[in-house]
Amino acid sequence: MTRKPMIAGNWKMNKTTAEAVTLSQDISYGYDSSLDDVELVLCPPFVDLKSVSTVLGFDKSRIALGAQDVYWQKSGAFTGAISPGMLKEVGCSYCIVGHSERREHFFESNEAVNLKVHALFEEGIIPIVCCGEDLPTREAGEALPFVISQIKAALEGLSVKQAGDLVIAYEPIWAIGTGRTATPEAADEVCAAIRQTVGELFGGSAASSLRVLYGGSMKPENVSFFVPMPNIDGGLIGGAALDARSFIDLAKAFI
Ligand code: PGA
Repeated sequence: MTRKPMIAGNWKMNKTTAEAVTLSQDISYGYDSSLDDVELVLCPPFVDLKSVSTVLGFDKSRIALGAQDVYWQKSGAFTGAISPGMLKEVGCSYCIVGHSERREHFFESNEAVNLKVHALFEEGIIPIVCCGEDLPTREAGEALPFVISQIKAALEGLSVKQAGDLVIAYEPIWAIGTGRTATPEAADEVCAAIRQTVGELFGGSAASSLRVLYGGSMKPENVSFFVPMPNIDGGLIGGAALDARSFIDLAKAFI
């Protein structure tokens, strides 16, 4: 089964609305038909979703829109929260959940990640589920069991179809924003274990259609080392997604 590679830009808490419009326009202008075989996703802050959606819609772009987080309830007294339905209405087809920064700074638990995954699927939005170990866990030789336990918890109760549609991003915490990447072999080993776990839980067809991304200081200068890895289907990009040229170059590497 051939999986369409994905390059998703996680803009984090960066870009004012005016800057978000410029960046999405620049990425849109940089897009050419050679990129039709790669899925590009822009994940700006909530307040920029509408304007980026307008830019992408106006340009009849093939670039998809994603959010960086969601709350699992449909509506109600949840001050500050955003529902899956709201994301759908503004044009999101993807939503990042369980990013390590959300787990660390906003105390997001595996149970919360699972609730968000279900709520997103109900609205027809594909979750990009993040997982990854910290440095002490890696140094203790516990990276694989740690990541597998995150994945089992996040995917609990999904259907076979949903598991196959899912995107999982393996992002070792010690590689995020540090300039230090996992070796491609080490990253591929974890991505393979994630795929194998999905196979054990949901069967071979879900495992072979599921996309697994690597994230953590992926840049145009190092992407070529990750591209040949059989279990890495693209990247979740932070810093290098804030520059249109690097983002497009990263996507082109996966053609
Ligand atoms: P980075 O961030 O590319 O800046 O390391 C990746 C991420 O946190 O998704």
